[in-house]
Amino acid sequence: MFSLPGLPGFRKGVLLVHLVTGAAGFIGSSLTDRLLAEGERVIGVDCFRDYYSPSVKRANLSGALGNASFTLLELDLSTDSLSRLSDSVGREDLVVYHLAAQAGVRRSWGESFEVYTRDNVTATQRLLEWARSAEGLSSFVYASSSSVYGNTAELPMREDASVPRPFSPYGVTKLAGESLVRLYSGNYGLPSVSLRFFTVYGPRQRPDMAFHRFISAALGGDPIEIYGNGSQTRDFTYVDDVIDAVLAARAVTGGEVLNVGGGNRVSLSEAVGVLADLMGSRAEVRQMPVQKGDVRDTLASTELIERATGWKPSTDLRKGLAAELDWLSGASEA
Ligand code: NAD
Ligand code: UGA
Repeated sequence: MFSLPGLPGFRKGVLLVHLVTGAAGFIGSSLTDRLLAEGERVIGVDCFRDYYSPSVKRANLSGALGNASFTLLELDLSTDSLSRLSDSVGREDLVVYHLAAQAGVRRSWGESFEVYTRDNVTATQRLLEWARSAEGLSSFVYASSSSVYGNTAELPMREDASVPRPFSPYGVTKLAGESLVRLYSGNYGLPSVSLRFFTVYGPRQRPDMAFHRFISAALGGDPIEIYGNGSQTRDFTYVDDVIDAVLAARAVTGGEVLNVGGGNRVSLSEAVGVLADLMGSRAEVRQMPVQKGDVRDTLASTELIERATGWKPSTDLRKGLAAELDWLSGASEA
């Protein structure tokens, strides 16, 4: 676990507050809980979109809401006035972790694209406008995505390789967000880092994501639905490793872009095999059509982040899947 690094703009003796957007979501609530466990003060922002059940999101925050160091601001970054952010932060030093977004690759086609541009582009631009004049901002961390690379045969994916060519509308909006962060750094000196997360999994994983769906199906005695023949690969990244990476990388503030990959690149069929092993039984697997926007393979080069921060992923797939299985088994008993 990383302790608070010496942040470049950090003023000695001035209190520090952490602003987490998307605080009720999968990764945002995990980050919030970690910061609170480290004794930090956290302001969480979320508007509880119904992409999946808002009651699941409230449950994600149940621990945080009982902690006096946590404040929840229910606001929509794409439309609401952000003056409430300034009122809550006051004159304290500040780290912003911008995780709020409309996530999900496969649903970003058609009319939904409007939602993706609203929550991933407009909301990011509005937050950046606010952040550029926020007093005491030490670091702005943007949650980017492996989806910006698109369907490339150049593996591992490197931050300095070819021009990113997203393969889904979602990926286009995440790349637009990343570009906005970079240009606010370039023009206004915003201290920022963009982290390209690779398929994150573990407790609280979103219900539309593969492992959540696979485990729920297997626990319920239903078939596991695989898009395609299961030979596609992902560099799956365990959520605690992602949180470690976020905490380590916030000291990197020159507008850098860094991959956060788990070092667990496996095919979906292999992942289903590990799950069957953990559950002691093999669920029926049903092949479904390949989904538009899904890339074939992902694999992160983590050289840059390792060099910049010393961070390395440390959770292997078996251990991480066991933790997600435990969490979902508990949820299905409750
Ligand atoms: P999530 O959907 O669980 O969390 C996102 C949260 O943002 C939600 O609670 C939602 O209500 C909130 N939100 C959306 N629009 C908002 C707005 N306009 N104002 C305020 N709140 C808003 O998603 P997640 O899986 O935790 O992803 C978190 C971030 O990480 C996202 O930016 C996502 O693009 C990025 N990311 C996730 C993964 C992954 O595998 N989960 C991989 C790469 C990148
Ligand atoms: C995930 C997140 O959902 C995105 O928000 C994120 O930006 C992206 O990672 C990323 O790394 O940038 P994805 O890789 O599609 O996207 O993650 P999953 O939903 O877990 O899917 C992984 C693989 O399983 C994909 O090939 C998908 O087609 C497949 N899948 C998913 C199935 O075969 N069946 C399912 O029921 C669900």
